[in-house]
Amino acid sequence: MPFLCNAWYAAGFAEELAAGPIARTILDQPVVIIDDGNGGTSALSDMCPHRFAPLSMGRIAVGTLTCPYHGMVFDSAGSCIHNPHGKGARPAALQLRNYPVRQQDGIVWIWMGNPSKADQIAPPSYDFLSAPENTVLRGYLKVDANYELVTDNLLDLSHAEFLHPFIMPEGTATAIRYRAEQVDNRVSAYHIMPDQPNTPLFELVLGPGVQRIDGFANSHWQAPANLMLETGAKVLDEGDGRLVLLPQTHLLTPETGTSTHYFWCVARDRNIVAPQLDAMLHAGLANAFEHEDEPMIKAVQQRMAGRDFFEMGPALLPMDEGSVRARRVLAKAIAQEQV
Ligand code: FES
Ligand SMILES: [Fe+2]
Repeated sequence: MPFLCNAWYAAGFAEELAAGPIARTILDQPVVIIDDGNGGTSALSDMCPHRFAPLSMGRIAVGTLTCPYHGMVFDSAGSCIHNPHGKGARPAALQLRNYPVRQQDGIVWIWMGNPSKADQIAPPSYDFLSAPENTVLRGYLKVDANYELVTDNLLDLSHAEFLHPFIMPEGTATAIRYRAEQVDNRVSAYHIMPDQPNTPLFELVLGPGVQRIDGFANSHWQAPANLMLETGAKVLDEGDGRLVLLPQTHLLTPETGTSTHYFWCVARDRNIVAPQLDAMLHAGLANAFEHEDEPMIKAVQQRMAGRDFFEMGPALLPMDEGSVRARRVLAKAIAQEQV
C-alpha cells in the first residue's frame, strides 16, 4: 500500500539533532536533517543530485553540506552554492529536495508530501512532553515490520500479559475491559484493569508495598501512526489512594514498507529527579518494546510474507476493533490522496 504523504511524521528527537545531523530513510526516501545555522532546522534529500552519493557521508557544517564524492556544496535550502570543478557551473538540476520540518515538544517532525500543504495541518501536540512538572524518558528502536502492524500492537494491549511481565502481571488479560471508540478520524482503545495486583512497572514508580491497583492504559491514535497512551494506576490499598500517571507517545514512522522507526516517550510527574529510577524505568520499558514487542511483530511480518492483512482473513476479535478502525481510516486517507 502507498504511504500517506501529506502528514507529519516523527523524524527524530530534538536532543538527537542537537548532537549532530540526523540521517534516516523515511517513506523510502533518504533524508538528512541539519541545523540551518539561523536557529532553524532543514530536512533535505540525502542523495546528491549529481551521481546520488549520500550527503550524510560528507562534511556537514552548520548550514552547509559538502558531497563526499565530487565536492559539490549545498546550503540549508538545498541549493548548490559551489561546484569545485571546471568553471563551477551550477545547473538548476543541482537542487536537493527540501522537506518542511518542525520542532515541537522535543520531537522533530517532517512533512513528506506537497510542501505547500504543510501549513494547513499542525504536527500532533503532546504538551505533556515539554511540561516543566514532568520528566520524560525517550527511546528509539527500529522494527523490522510494517508500521501498521506496530499500530495494531499499540491499539490492542491484551498482548501485554503474554509478552510483558514487567508491565502486566499474569492473569490480567482476562480482566481487561476493552472498548474502542472512533471520533471523526481518531481512534481510541480503552483498556481498564480494575482491582489487579500491582505490577513491577508501578512498583518502581510508587515504591514497594503497594498490593492492589486499578490500572488503565488508553491508546489514542491519529493517522498516519502517531499514538498517545494514557497509562496509569490508582492505588487501592487502604489509606493510600494515590494516582500515578505515565502518559506516553509512540510515534511510528515508516522507514520502508517493511521497517519502522519507533520513537517512544514516557513522562511522569512524580519523583522527577531520580536518575536511578530513570535508568530502571528506561531499561524495563526499552526491554519490553525492543526485546518483547519487536521480535513478535517482526515474526508476524514474516508469516504474512507480503500478503495484505484483510485479504488473509484474520479471525478478528472484539479487542481488534480499534486497530481495524485505524487501518480503515488510514486506507481511506491514502486512497483520497491518490485521487
Ligand atoms: S555525487 Fe555528489 S558531487 Fe558527485
Ligand atoms: Fe507491547
